[in-house]
Amino acid sequence: MENYLDAAIAIAREAGQVLMAHRGVDFELKGDYDLVTAADRASEQLIIKRLRERFPSHGIVAEEGGRAEMDAELRWYVDPLDGTTNFAHGFPMWNVTLALARRGEVIAGLVYDPLNRELFAAERGAGARLNGAPMHVSKAKTINDSLLSTGFPSRKRHQNVNIHFYYQLAMLSHGVRRGGSAAIDLAYVACGRLDAFWEFGLNPWDMAAGTLLVEEAGGRVSGMRDEALDLHGRYVLADNALVHDELIELFSEIFAGRYRHDMPGLPAPEWEMHRG
Ligand code: IPD
Ligand code: CA
Ligand code: CA
Repeated sequence: MENYLDAAIAIAREAGQVLMAHRGVDFELKGDYDLVTAADRASEQLIIKRLRERFPSHGIVAEEGGRAEMDAELRWYVDPLDGTTNFAHGFPMWNVTLALARRGEVIAGLVYDPLNRELFAAERGAGARLNGAPMHVSKAKTINDSLLSTGFPSRKRHQNVNIHFYYQLAMLSHGVRRGGSAAIDLAYVACGRLDAFWEFGLNPWDMAAGTLLVEEAGGRVSGMRDEALDLHGRYVLADNALVHDELIELFSEIFAGRYRHDMPGLPAPEWEMHRG
C-alpha cells in the first residue's frame, strides 16, 4: 500500500511541474463555460504514462478521456487539473488529484497544490497528512459557528439546485466560500480550514481522493440524505462529523421545500439603491 501512495505522490509532483510550466496559456471551451487547457491534457498524458509504466494491470479513469483496464480490481481516478477555470484566469486555487480504489473503495488518495506547495495525502486506516504532518478536521459544533464551502459546476447550470442550499447556508453560517476547486475544498475540510463542503454535479475524480482525506482526518462523508457516499453518484456532503447531523437535518428541510430563510422575502435589488 505504501508503494501506491508514494508512487502517486511522485507522479503528482511531476504533473504539478507540468502545470506550473503551462501557466498563462490559452484555453478552449468544452461546452458553454466548460474550459480545457493544454495544461489539462499535458498533465493527464504524463500521469497516464507514469501509471501505465508502474502499474500496467491497474484500471484508470481520467477526466480528459484517459481510460484503461476498466474491469481491473485496482482503479485510479485522475483529475490532472482540478480548478481549470481558476487556472485559466490566473486565480490561484487549483491542484492535481489522484486516488486509488480497490473494488470501488478508495484506499489511497492525494491532493497536490503546487502553488502553495501543499500535499494532502491519506491511506485508508492510516490517517491523513498535510506535508507529512498528521491533519485533523475542525472542532466547530454548529452550523452557526462554521465556515463552509460549495461549488457550482460549469455544465448544465440551469439544472443545478444548489442556489437553494447556498442561500440557506449563507444566512445561517459564518459564510459560504465558492473557490472553484472541489478537491481543495475537500482537502480544506480535512485540515480544518473549512467545517463542511457540499456540491451537486461532481464526477468521481473530483471527490475520490478528497473524501478519503476527510474520513481519515476524522470527518464524515455521505450523500445529501445521509446515505453512504456513492463515488459515482455525482454529489457529496463532507464535514467535520460534529456538524453532520445538523446539516443533514437542514438539507432534508430544503429538499422538502421548507426554508428557514425565505428567498422570496429578499428585498428587490433596487431596494439597495434607495436605503439610507
Ligand atoms: C471542477 C471544480 C469546481 C467544481 C466543478 C468541477 P474541473 O473541476 O472542482 O470547483 O465546482 O464541479 O467540475 O473541471 O476544474 O476539473
Ligand atoms: Ca475537477
Ligand atoms: Ca479537471
